[in-house]
Amino acid sequence: MRDINQFTVTDAVKDSFRDRSNERLVFLLDKLVEHLHDYVRETNLTQEEWLASLNFLYDCGQISTPDRHEFILLSDVLGLSAVVDMVNTKGGGTEMSNLGPFYLPEAPAKELGADLSGDREGVVMLANGVVRDTLGNPLPNATVDTWQADGSGMYPIQDPKQDKFDMRAVFKTDDQGRYYYTTLLPKSYTVPYDGPVGRILRATDRHAWRSKHLHYMLSAPGMRGIVTELFFEGDEYIDSDAVFGVRKSLIGKIQRVGRDDNLEYDLERKPDVRVDFDFVLSPVDR
Ligand code: BEZ
Ligand code: FE
Repeated sequence: MRDINQFTVTDAVKDSFRDRSNERLVFLLDKLVEHLHDYVRETNLTQEEWLASLNFLYDCGQISTPDRHEFILLSDVLGLSAVVDMVNTKGGGTEMSNLGPFYLPEAPAKELGADLSGDREGVVMLANGVVRDTLGNPLPNATVDTWQADGSGMYPIQDPKQDKFDMRAVFKTDDQGRYYYTTLLPKSYTVPYDGPVGRILRATDRHAWRSKHLHYMLSAPGMRGIVTELFFEGDEYIDSDAVFGVRKSLIGKIQRVGRDDNLEYDLERKPDVRVDFDFVLSPVDR
């Protein structure tokens, strides 16, 4: 008869995964069991704490809907999403950062120089730069998919009165690898904190604010696609972003555009400020 105790139980569970033909799945399960068991042994988790944890996960499920995924939010505020982004940043490309819940596939394709701000209130900003490979060569015809909050801190998709495709667009870089468009300087906003994840934030005296940012998804043939964010120097929440999305390398500088400044682009709307930021994509095989 086997002797199961708090130390041998870990191997017993791993041995119970008898079909090991899906190597990656079994590796992930083995590691999960090891780390979960270690957590309990290290913390001396009580039965009340164990039950409270599972009830917390139950509550996350209860509040989730097709438009609200509380488990992703939990992963975000615990820095888990950030670690996944970090370990998947490879080959010298731009660092990855949080996808967030507001990405929409099939955003409208727009011409370079287009304006995303419409007639919304706010500071009009030129967002521009070059998409390069890791050797510094510009990548023409790269896809730059962007989405963001507006000047009030709302994503239009959160407001049924607005067009869900507002404040987002898909651009193709020009023959010099450049992307450029005008938009609004977004405002900071909070992650949802009216659910179980909010309880953790309150219990640990944490705020729910995200440092203001633009979201980007970039791809080009033969290159590793990335999901990332661009942040702004001097932002109030740059060192305390609720989902740990900020990286030093992803901070751009907002610069004033003078009335008489000659800009290097043909733009639909005159900007008040500009942010210059280059992206780097690494080859798929690195
Ligand atoms: C966002 O960046 O859009 C976001 C990220 C995590 C939670 C909520 C929103
Ligand atoms: Fe966002």
